[in-house]
Amino acid sequence: MKDFVFENSTKVYFGKECVRKHLPNLLDSYGNTIMLAYGGGSIKRHGIYDEIVAVLQAAGKTIVEFPNIMSNPTYAKVQEGATLARERHVDLILGVGGGSVMDCCKAISLAAVAEGDIWERFWASSGTIDFSPLPLAVVVTVTGTGSEMNGGAVITNEASKIKTGRDYPQCNPKFALLDPSYTMSVPPLQTASGGFDILSHIMETYFSEPDEDNVSDDISEALMRSVIRNLRKAVHNPDDYTARSNLMWASTMAENRIIKLGKKMDFQAHQIEHQLGAYTSCNHGCGLAVISPVYYRHIYTYGLTKFASFARNVWQIPAEGKSEEELARAGVETLAAFIKELGLPDSLRSLGITEKNVLKDVADSCNISQGSYKHMTTTEILSILEECF
Ligand code: NZQ
Ligand code: ZN
Repeated sequence: MKDFVFENSTKVYFGKECVRKHLPNLLDSYGNTIMLAYGGGSIKRHGIYDEIVAVLQAAGKTIVEFPNIMSNPTYAKVQEGATLARERHVDLILGVGGGSVMDCCKAISLAAVAEGDIWERFWASSGTIDFSPLPLAVVVTVTGTGSEMNGGAVITNEASKIKTGRDYPQCNPKFALLDPSYTMSVPPLQTASGGFDILSHIMETYFSEPDEDNVSDDISEALMRSVIRNLRKAVHNPDDYTARSNLMWASTMAENRIIKLGKKMDFQAHQIEHQLGAYTSCNHGCGLAVISPVYYRHIYTYGLTKFASFARNVWQIPAEGKSEEELARAGVETLAAFIKELGLPDSLRSLGITEKNVLKDVADSCNISQGSYKHMTTTEILSILEECF
């Protein structure tokens, strides 16, 4: 394994009714004014908003509402939130939602305190945070990104058409409340999309060096088997609490830095998807479902040993009678079949992207991963996107 330093500062409260049980005490450590940030209204339709507002009111807090955080949050929305947080002297941001809400809130927590253009300082390139961001806490309502236990925030700059993420440990939420029952109302397509995002985070970490025996890859294989098993269950039976809770914790585990220890990382499929999102605002997990099998068909021969292990240990494909390459390819094709089985899109057209001429702009603006088994060129990324179309 590569050398590493591990740190994760977020305290996690997991389980049924964890908001009601723990939020009142947790609020004692913060000032009076709480910014309640959320998305397009799902939390109001499913009773989560009422439950949280009741806790905040009982604690005597002043609530500053910041609604309508969109999927693929924009830099403009971050600036709007930061202005509000400054004007109302917010003491704690409480983000309630999925990756979009959590990421937007992390960027607000920086922008509310930092001077200048935070896109230029912290997203255009990696910056240095030598101040304390506004404290942030999160309540997760849809699983997938794992944003609740890292400092990562993926933001779209609409003017420059760049969607990119940075992970600053200082942006880790102070605490995260994970109640799997909050995710029961997530519809099957978003469940599948979020579940595939989890799987993708694990694959993007797993499909990279080292190939020698290492505990991170062993954990990853176990996590992938769990995600596949429980995602099937949750998509077919949205009320399956056990499946929802396993997915919720697997999502956190995939992105809380543990499986990344001692590893290089790929994340090329994510880089492609992020730029596709910048140009089309497509759904993150659905975009990954289209891109991943095509990308893996392009690279699996450069990481045969790992792709063969993926087939054998994750999908339980028998190795007998197959060359290493045949086994590795069978793993990728089983992944593609799983994506179909989940009802996820398998082409950019089925994702609703009809303008083929956007693909060159996506490829030209896409970051090239340094951790992948095969370093891509812009031309190869364009040909992958054209195959996806
Ligand atoms: O906006 P509302 O009305 O709340 O509806 C949301 C949204 O439409 C809905 N939803 C949330 N909770 C629900 C619910 N529907 C029913 N019942 C509930 N309990 O779900 C939809 C999707 O939400 P969103 O937050 O957009 O999805 P996701 O969690 O997949 O986040 C996507 C964003 O996170 C970024 C993505 O790029 C994208 O911008 N990512 C963040 C990462 C990180 N910070 O570590 C890593 C990821 O790779 C990813 O890039
Ligand atoms: Zn992702």
